[in-house]
Amino acid sequence: MYLGIDLGTSGIKAMLVDESFATVGVAHAALTVSRPHPGWSEQAPADWIAAAEAAIGALRRDHPQDMARLQAIGLSGHMHGATLLDASDQVLRPCILWNDGRSGPQCAELTARADFHGIAGNLVMAGFTAPKLLWVAQNEPAIFARVAKVLLPKDYLRLWLTGEHVAEMSDAAGTLWLDVGRRDWSDALLAATGLTRAQMPRLVEGSEVSGHLRADLAERWGIPRVPVAGGGGDNAATACGMGVMTPGTGFLSLGTSGVLFAATASYAPNTADAVHTFCHAVPDTWHQMGVILSATDSLTWLAEITGKSVPELAAMVGDVTAPAPVTFLPYLSGERTPLNDPDATGAFLGLRRATGLADLAQAAMEGVAMAFTDCVHALRKAGTPIEAAYAVGGGARSRAWLRIMASATGLTLLEPEDGDFGAAFGAAKLAAACATGDISARIFAQPAVRSEVVPDPELAAAYAEKYEIYHAAYPHLRDLAP
Ligand code: XUL
Repeated sequence: MYLGIDLGTSGIKAMLVDESFATVGVAHAALTVSRPHPGWSEQAPADWIAAAEAAIGALRRDHPQDMARLQAIGLSGHMHGATLLDASDQVLRPCILWNDGRSGPQCAELTARADFHGIAGNLVMAGFTAPKLLWVAQNEPAIFARVAKVLLPKDYLRLWLTGEHVAEMSDAAGTLWLDVGRRDWSDALLAATGLTRAQMPRLVEGSEVSGHLRADLAERWGIPRVPVAGGGGDNAATACGMGVMTPGTGFLSLGTSGVLFAATASYAPNTADAVHTFCHAVPDTWHQMGVILSATDSLTWLAEITGKSVPELAAMVGDVTAPAPVTFLPYLSGERTPLNDPDATGAFLGLRRATGLADLAQAAMEGVAMAFTDCVHALRKAGTPIEAAYAVGGGARSRAWLRIMASATGLTLLEPEDGDFGAAFGAAKLAAACATGDISARIFAQPAVRSEVVPDPELAAAYAEKYEIYHAAYPHLRDLAP
């Protein structure tokens, strides 16, 4: 038995699988995000532990014998969060999350201080960890002075589970302090942020042992002192669950944020279009991603302000035969790929008296598809042509959205056979890899494809025209937003 725990933005998911990776049990516990100022996004680390206790408790209650046969635990979580601890591991302030845009001004400052592009292989973007620490240094100096360790969100859960400060490569790459090609902390990039290696956790690969379950927790839960695998950032972990470990088929994730992910055989950065270049969760592999900040969140927002539910909006869209007469820019929380602009704002273009809510809902889905089209272009420019991708995440349950997405991006979207292939599943696979020492395709197998959604030629031609409008809009609107 293997346990995968994914710390998601909206909740913790704990998934118990057997040796053939069949699901034995799944438990969830909800989390909320606090937004004390526009553009800010925070969570209290204590809430993660309470949620993990609840989810693990539910699995213990429902599957006591299976939990007693546990062999390893794997962790995954939302990336880039800054969890700041003092010398006695007390949390110094709420964790600043991946979708927090406050550190825009600090990005330019860090970029000028050291070779982040060359060493970290990424643009200094507001969601990443390093500019958040510079923001804390400049705005909360008393807190910054007490920072003894900086942990990524899932690594704080690891501290609770094992008592150890450990990070793994895929998530560490998203801090901007990792020399991503060499898979080691960079003293130069840490120094540029006023930090040293002593404030960083020890590094392991995602498929390696990071520590063992604390004796008191093991006793209380009635399970062995199993190893805890390094695990992965949620995107690398999802890739492990989908068997996306080598170049070829990637995955497109329609979650709160949207991700187009491709594995690469070598370290191949391209900062020009805000492509993310990170380590993969197994040794000697890397990956590239295009990341958009508001994917399903665009529909969630529209549902919230119109008093509808997301399924109601999706039902209004139905089977699309022509583009909506309205164009939507999905930059509700700023944008990463390709704009790297935490201050970018959303917009509807082309509103008329006859525009209805169904038009807005379709336009929202199309705007997200156009943002993914930008990611396809950015990865292509980074030397990674991508033709086919598994479609995952909550939004992938909408057939209408997948048709829009395939026709706008030109990608063939693969719907995996029934199953739960998210980050918690990938974390369970990394647990298996760490327990068995096997990192082959036997563990990281690709799921069978249930159906393919291919681009519709007529819709694709219409979307190519609409993309021109979409693409031209942002440079005009950028300087007009209040
Ligand atoms: C990736 C990113 C998001 C979070 C969300 O760079 O910021 O995908 O990991 O979970």
